[in-house]
Amino acid sequence: MTTVLDGDAVASDIRDSLTDSIDTLTTAGVTPGLATVLMSTDPSSETYVSMKQRDCEEVGINGIHVEIDADAPATELYETIEDLNDDPAVHGILVQLPVPEHVDERRVVRSIDPEKDVDGFHPENVGRLVRGQPRFKPCTPHGVQKLLDAAGVDPDGKEVVIVGRSEIVGKPLANLLMQKAPDGNATVTVCHSHTADLAAKTRAADIVIAAAGVPELIDGSMLSEGATVIDVGVNSVDADTEKGYELVGDVDFESATEKASVITPVPGGVGPMTRAMLLYNTVKAASAQTG
Ligand code: GUN
Repeated sequence: MTTVLDGDAVASDIRDSLTDSIDTLTTAGVTPGLATVLMSTDPSSETYVSMKQRDCEEVGINGIHVEIDADAPATELYETIEDLNDDPAVHGILVQLPVPEHVDERRVVRSIDPEKDVDGFHPENVGRLVRGQPRFKPCTPHGVQKLLDAAGVDPDGKEVVIVGRSEIVGKPLANLLMQKAPDGNATVTVCHSHTADLAAKTRAADIVIAAAGVPELIDGSMLSEGATVIDVGVNSVDADTEKGYELVGDVDFESATEKASVITPVPGGVGPMTRAMLLYNTVKAASAQTG
C-alpha cells in the first residue's frame, strides 16, 4: 500500500496551529504583517503571490502587496525594500523571485532586513542555518520536513538523496537534513545535472526528494521498493487540456507509486506546505520583533 500524502490537509493543520499565536499578538495590538513584492509579469509568479496574499487574509495576517512594473528601474525595487524595512507594521518581506534580468537578485536578497527575511535567503540567515541555528527555515525545505514528520518518516539514519542543488530548496534542505536531531541526522547526497549515474544514487536512497525542475525526471525504475518520495517540482507542460497545459512534478507519479511506500502528489503535496511555512515564519518574525 502506498500512502499519498495530503499536503493540503497538513498545511491546514499548520495554519490552525498558528491561530493562537496570531490571536495573542493581535490582542496585544500587533497584527502580523507580510509584504509581498512582485516585479514580474510571469503568470506563475502572479498566481503564487496572490495565493500567499489570500492565505494571509484567511489566518488574520495583514497582507501588504506591492507591485512594481517589470520594466521599472531596479532602484524602484531597492527603495521599496528600504521602505518596507523601515515600516513597523511589516514584520516579513517576500520579494517573489525571479526578478527581471536588469535587477541584481543578490542585492535584492541582501537588502532585506534579516529579521524580516521570512524566506530565509539573506546571507546572514543562510549562515545561521548552516551553523545549525536557523532564524527562519526556508519555507519549502521546512515544508518538506513537516510533511515527512506528518507521514511518520524520520530521516534519522536514513539515506536521503536530494535531486537539485538550488539555493531555495536543494542546498538548504541538504543542510537541514544533515544536522543533528530533531532536524535530520540523515546521510544526505545531493545530485544535479552533472551527476554521473542518477538512477544508481536514487535507487540507493530511503528518501528521494526531487527538486530539479525537470518534468517527470524520476520514475519507478529509479526507486527502491518502499522508498519515500517527495516531489518538489512544479512544471508546466503542454497538454490537451482547456488551458493547453498541465502541471506535473519532477516525479512520474504513476510508475513511482508502484514502488514508493509514501509519495507526494503534484499539485497538493509540497506546494501548500511552502505557503503554510511562510505564514509560520511571518508569525515568528512578528513575535520576535515585538516580544
Ligand atoms: N520563487 C519560487 N519560490 C520562491 C520562494 O520560496 N520565495 C520567493 N521569494 N520566490 C520564489
